[in-house]
Amino acid sequence: MQNFTFYNPTRILFGTGRIANIAREIPANARVLITYGGGSIVKTGTLAEVKAALNGFTVFEFAGIEPNPTYETLMKAVELARRENIDFLLAVGGGSVIDGTKFIAAAIPFVGEPWDLLAKRAKVSSAIPFGSVLTLPATGSEMNSGAVITKRATNDKLAFSNGLLFPRFSVLDPTKTYTLPARQVANGVVDAFVHITEQYLTFPADAKVQDRFAEGLLLTLIEDGPKALLEPENYDVRANLMWTATLALNGLIGAGVPNDWATHMLGHELTALHGLDHAQTLAVVLPAMLQIRREEKRGKLLQFAERVWGLRDGDEDARIDQAIERTRQFFESLQVPTRLSGYGIGKDAIPALMAQLERHGMVALGEHQSFSLEGSRQVYELAA
Ligand code: NZQ
Ligand code: ZN
Repeated sequence: MQNFTFYNPTRILFGTGRIANIAREIPANARVLITYGGGSIVKTGTLAEVKAALNGFTVFEFAGIEPNPTYETLMKAVELARRENIDFLLAVGGGSVIDGTKFIAAAIPFVGEPWDLLAKRAKVSSAIPFGSVLTLPATGSEMNSGAVITKRATNDKLAFSNGLLFPRFSVLDPTKTYTLPARQVANGVVDAFVHITEQYLTFPADAKVQDRFAEGLLLTLIEDGPKALLEPENYDVRANLMWTATLALNGLIGAGVPNDWATHMLGHELTALHGLDHAQTLAVVLPAMLQIRREEKRGKLLQFAERVWGLRDGDEDARIDQAIERTRQFFESLQVPTRLSGYGIGKDAIPALMAQLERHGMVALGEHQSFSLEGSRQVYELAA
């Protein structure tokens, strides 16, 4: 096992009715800005429930944070928050709203141009405290300190993170996920799955707990992902998926082991240029990535084949092929296409994707920091 520092201060309020408990997590007399997306929380009644729980606080609202949240939109919230002296933010929504709120939290006190937090990796030296009410299990943003923000003007989709950007608390009420469209349920399962593989399908580090934990999370997604689509109001299924997605990216399974993240980096460029949902990009990139890097990942691919897909017999290479194929079939079974052609994107799109990777410095990726642009090109080509 590698050396690591593990720190996660986010308080989780899990279960039905937990929105009612948020007031005690927010400083008395706080001026609270509720941030949200395109209005799903208005329709589902979650906004009303949150406002009822905030009775007695001075509350403002900022709506319109879009999927793949943009700098352009978020800066409007920063202006509002500065003008109204907001001192606590409450994100109500999916990963985009929570990520966007992390940017707002860091940008409010930032001196200078806040986009530098992404583009120049400027240091976050303070941030407005915030909490979240999660409505879409997928990203893990509710219990981590990272965010991915897009600048529409330049097609840059970039990540940043800082220990000051953990939510103070997050409410995980599985019943709030009943209203998700099937596409978002499937996206959540695929995103969590790939978060796990980014931290597990690398090279062996003899980290038994992290490995077994990762395998348990993968098996839960395989078992309960399809059930959530068939039985949208099955509480136990939703609860298991919600906690799995959180644990997939709260730092626990990635501590002490090599981390990859190349699939995410190639995926971000597909969203930036073609607008695919985040999870759709991962479903396209992962099977091709595993195929191209099968020698580098051989030991863990065989472990994945055996412990996750039950493939124990026969030739090693055949087992690896089958494990990759079973992964692809799992995504397809959730109605998430796994090839670029499934989204109407042809091979002619690859040069522009490569130029984006190069411009963003994504030239030595993966657990060995050696996955080159040439490798990325092969992955995009195999994914066509
Ligand atoms: O905007 P509203 O109207 O709320 O609708 C949203 C949105 O259209 C809808 N939705 C959310 N909860 C709902 C619901 N509709 C009905 N009922 C509900 N309960 O779902 C749509 C998608 O929401 P979004 O927040 O965009 O999805 P997701 O949670 O998948 O977040 C994706 C973003 O997170 C980033 C991605 O890059 C992408 O920008 N990621 C963040 C990470 C992190 N912070 O650690 C890691 C991930 O790898 C990922 O990169
Ligand atoms: Zn992701």
